[in-house]
Amino acid sequence: MEINLFQVLSTIALAIETSAPELNGHHKRTAFIANELAAELKLVPKYREDVFISALLHDIGGLVKKDYLIAIDDQEPYSHAHATYGAAIFKMVPLLADKASIILHHHRKWGYGQGEYQNDERIPFASHIIYLADRIDIQYLKLQKSGHESPAERCIELIKEEVETRFHPLVLEAFLRLANKTYFWLALSRPLPLNLLRMYSPIADKTINLDELMDFGLLLNTIIDMHCNFTCRHSLHVGIVARFLAEKCHYSEVECKKIELAGYLHDIGKLAIPMSLLHKEGKLDDADIAILKSHSYHTFELLSSIDAITDIARWAALHHEKPNGYGYPFSLAGDEIGQECRIISIADVFVALTENRPYRTAMPAKRVSEILHQEAENNSLDSKLVNLLLEHRQEVMNITNNMDLMHSY
Ligand SMILES: [Fe+2]
Ligand SMILES: [Fe+2]
Ligand SMILES: [Fe+2]
Ligand SMILES: [Fe+2]
Repeated sequence: MEINLFQVLSTIALAIETSAPELNGHHKRTAFIANELAAELKLVPKYREDVFISALLHDIGGLVKKDYLIAIDDQEPYSHAHATYGAAIFKMVPLLADKASIILHHHRKWGYGQGEYQNDERIPFASHIIYLADRIDIQYLKLQKSGHESPAERCIELIKEEVETRFHPLVLEAFLRLANKTYFWLALSRPLPLNLLRMYSPIADKTINLDELMDFGLLLNTIIDMHCNFTCRHSLHVGIVARFLAEKCHYSEVECKKIELAGYLHDIGKLAIPMSLLHKEGKLDDADIAILKSHSYHTFELLSSIDAITDIARWAALHHEKPNGYGYPFSLAGDEIGQECRIISIADVFVALTENRPYRTAMPAKRVSEILHQEAENNSLDSKLVNLLLEHRQEVMNITNNMDLMHSY
């Protein structure tokens, strides 16, 4: 199975921005600018790849620590928490780990050469490229929004003023050469088509395999669970329980992995739901409920942009559909909901009942089986799968408990 890396990373970039709409398109544009700078600087292909990948995800730490506005204004001394979290996130994924220090320093000012080293560690040149790319985007956007009559010229002036203090002189020189080219400003002045960015990116046709995608899946499930932190390991557990059921249903190893991944990602759309609503105490009104329910559609939208996994996108996104037709968001019924989707649904309900929630503790086994049987009777859940799960309830609980023990060290 070959999955296009650009599509995976741009989907993650989109997920970052879903939870911070003020950044709409910022990662695409920063990656475009950084890529152009890297080409202008004639960097070797591997380094251009590193610059591009890092730029495309550079504010990923904002998913954990929302100091975005500080990042946009960039006024505080060098202590951007989102850069620190971003570097930690990069270290979790083997494909990204070697780029963690680029992310850590992406707000590092040049400071007349002081920014070349920190203690004895050399700051990656790529960090200086991304820093300038990021500032160009933020500055140009501000000027455009304020209705400035010549935003490109003003942007060049403002950036030039900060050579040596903020920006690496070599990177700035490359920018000044780039700034003479009309296409550069045309590309920045309108929504940047994803296909265009992909076509010119150094990773346009690079692919990863299912195991490498799983590494990203595990990273995303941690981020999703942090976003909805009362259900601390919800996505992780749903993935594990779904895999368990898939094995019992005799799926092949590849299919089991794909179902597991769908479990990890089923609530990725919750990144689009404000934390304040996810954690709201007291009664929710109809509007709140409608927003909360939209998360599975967001899951569908986000994951559907990766061509090779449209099946996983569907299994993940249909986790609130019900065989009796009363689910959402597509109101599917009966055979329209495949067994893989039913597995994710049951795993989701089972995990929700057996985990502590802010408004109640985990339910006792007897109550869990009563509820699941009731749901099966109402045709809200697949009765065969409910029986299968309850038959192995203790085994499943042991697996998820062991997983928690492993994660607590
Ligand atoms: Fe940043
Ligand atoms: Fe940024
Ligand atoms: Fe959900
Ligand atoms: Fe869920």
